[in-house]
Amino acid sequence: MSDDQSDSGVQRRSVMQTMGAAGLALLGTAGATAAAGQEQDGDAPNGQPSYQLPELPYEYDALEPHIDGRIMELHHGEHHQAYVDGANEALEEFESMREAGEFDDIRAAKRDFSFNYSGHVNHTVFWENMSPDGGGEPEGDLASAIDEQFGSFEDFQAEFTATANNVEGDGWAMLFYEPLADALVIGQVEGQNELAHQRAIPILTLDVWEHAYYLQYENDRGAYVDEWWNVVDWEDVGERYELLTDAEPDDLEPDDEPAEDDPDADEEPPEDDPDADDEPVEEDEPEANGEPDPGPNGNGEPDEPGDGGPMEPGDGPMEPGDGGPMEPGDGPGANNESMGPGGN
Ligand SMILES: [Fe+2]
Repeated sequence: MSDDQSDSGVQRRSVMQTMGAAGLALLGTAGATAAAGQEQDGDAPNGQPSYQLPELPYEYDALEPHIDGRIMELHHGEHHQAYVDGANEALEEFESMREAGEFDDIRAAKRDFSFNYSGHVNHTVFWENMSPDGGGEPEGDLASAIDEQFGSFEDFQAEFTATANNVEGDGWAMLFYEPLADALVIGQVEGQNELAHQRAIPILTLDVWEHAYYLQYENDRGAYVDEWWNVVDWEDVGERYELLTDAEPDDLEPDDEPAEDDPDADEEPPEDDPDADDEPVEEDEPEANGEPDPGPNGNGEPDEPGDGGPMEPGDGPMEPGDGGPMEPGDGPGANNESMGPGGN
């Protein structure tokens, strides 16, 4: 664990109490971003929130031969950048609405923010979950937790692989830390934010959008997933797990006092949350992780050749030619149309 993380106990405690799962997903990421001398999320001259594209912790071609350098270049520089831009544009739109006192378009804007902000978070964790020195198996507490919950690393890997290969359309496989039951959960995320697990925090994310692999693996997602295991940075994943699980139980209680100078803060028993004592969350419900109902558009195929090829920058989620980044149904394409039962 880095110094930035190890001396951040108070910050972590406060963050855990005040931020949602998406913010927590970035724990451990901010330190690397600061070390790179970049602006960070939240740095905005006008006091409004904003988001920044983080630098990769390695070169674009560093993950070859498992992930092609051109894929990484487009994925990071075009696709991730588009999510960052989309989130910031949504924030600007919110501000414009507030100034005008008119919120007629707020439904679409809120959907766009959720989609693009989630895309930013998902990709930020994804980059840091990989390393040229990756592969192998986890160690320490994470390894023990995986063995306890899934039987063995091989069993965990088989379930995660199947989850990734069976994401319908574009989306993600993720390993979450679920704090209510102190459990690990493997989940699917469709698009960037569908089937999200509230308060569960992703510690390992695998992008299975076609833009993540099509240029190299064409339609063989399974081959991409198999190769991806060779670049998983288990040290990063393990640090995320330990950062979350080393917290005192009441760190995760939203009503707890955040002050470090309260000598009784850590001595009080955890709030009697009936949910916390329930049985572990069942992660194998077919509705959640198995085979989501196919929507009328099948979640779309934003990387269809007809859209200009899977790896073209213009296929990014915010392609201007699609009518602008904030329009539902544009950019990430048909996935936007699956963002809610009400459609758009
Ligand atoms: Fe992606």
